[in-house]
Amino acid sequence: MDYDKFIVDIPDYPEPGVIFKDVTPLIADAEGFCGMVDEIAEHFKDAGVTKIVGAEARGFLIGAPVAYRMGVGFVPARKPGKLPREVYSQEYDLEYGTDQLQIHKDAIRSGDKCLIVDDLIATGGTAVACAKLIEQAGGEVEGFAFGLELCYLNPRDVVKKDFQQEIFTIIQVH
Ligand code: PRP
Ligand code: MG
Repeated sequence: MDYDKFIVDIPDYPEPGVIFKDVTPLIADAEGFCGMVDEIAEHFKDAGVTKIVGAEARGFLIGAPVAYRMGVGFVPARKPGKLPREVYSQEYDLEYGTDQLQIHKDAIRSGDKCLIVDDLIATGGTAVACAKLIEQAGGEVEGFAFGLELCYLNPRDVVKKDFQQEIFTIIQVH
């Protein structure tokens, strides 16, 4: 599947110097969207995954269908103040700015094997924050899956400092 054709580059968005990778055309295409979700689910089908963790907002778009496809639950890692009960919090640096993600304290149990899914990995900050939230909750990080990997930002080096689990990506941008 030629996924690359669906990714649209938006120069200087949301800030000068940043090339925004718009994945909405990929998600809007039935073949592209279903193909990407199926490839991720297929790749991790024998890994014993019990939970998918996806970061607000675009991580929900890919993570929830992957969870449904794999027959496991989905845990949203949300921006601050969105979850109504007790949370674990993790600060992280973005490609542009800083932010925080939170999960409900009871969303992940000891022994849960969690796969982190997002639309793309850029600097790796969001992925590491999700992984640290899983560990705070007592779960295991089983791996990482992304539609798009911005290889030129070297996100694997950032993730590998703390997490050696597999990073599976569908499209690599060099
Ligand atoms: C984007 C993207 C990833 C993250 C990747 O999310 O959806 O979650 O950036 O960047 P990183 O590897 O440098 O952390 P963003 O925070 O822009 O928010 P959104 O998903 O709500 O659009
Ligand atoms: Mg995101």
